[in-house]
Amino acid sequence: MKVTLTVNGRQVTADCEPRRSLADFLRQDLGFTGVHLGCEHGVCGACTITLDGATARACCLLAVQAEGAEITTVEGMATDGELHPLQQSFRDHHGLQCGFCTPGMLATAAELLRETPSPTEAEIRERISGNLCRCTGYQFIVDSIADAAKKLNPRDAP
Ligand code: FES
Ligand code: FES
Repeated sequence: MKVTLTVNGRQVTADCEPRRSLADFLRQDLGFTGVHLGCEHGVCGACTITLDGATARACCLLAVQAEGAEITTVEGMATDGELHPLQQSFRDHHGLQCGFCTPGMLATAAELLRETPSPTEAEIRERISGNLCRCTGYQFIVDSIADAAKKLNPRDAP
C-alpha cells in the first residue's frame, strides 16, 4: 500500500508493507539514516523523531499509522546550512561521541526547550532519562542542552 507523509517539510509517498515500522520506513525506504535503531522496543530512544509536534518512538509505530503526519528527523533540524542551536551546542560541548544516540537526544531536547525554554539541570536530566547514551556522555549532553537554552533565551541567562 502507499503511505504519504511530510518529512522535513517535503511530502513523500512510497510503497509500504502494512507491517513496516515507521523507523524502517524512514531509514531504509526514504533514506533518512539519522533515524537510528537500537532496541526496537521503545526503550533506548535512539529512534526518537518529532511527529505532529511531539516526540515519538519511530520503532513503536507502524508507517501506516503516520499517514498524513508531519515528521522531523535530525536531517531537518538545520536550516539554510546553519546548524540548529542545539546541534551547534552539542558540537561545542562534546555532546556527541559515537553519535548514535544524538538524533534522538536532539529531538528530545528540542521538545524540552519548546515546552520549558529555561530548564533546570534536573529538568534536563529527567527529560533525557528515556534516551540511552551508550558512550555515557550524559554530562556533556546536559551541558550542551543547558548552553543551547541560554543561547536561545539570553534574557533568562544568569
Ligand atoms: S529503537 Fe526505538 S526506542 Fe530503541
Ligand atoms: S554518543 Fe554514543 S551513544 Fe551517545
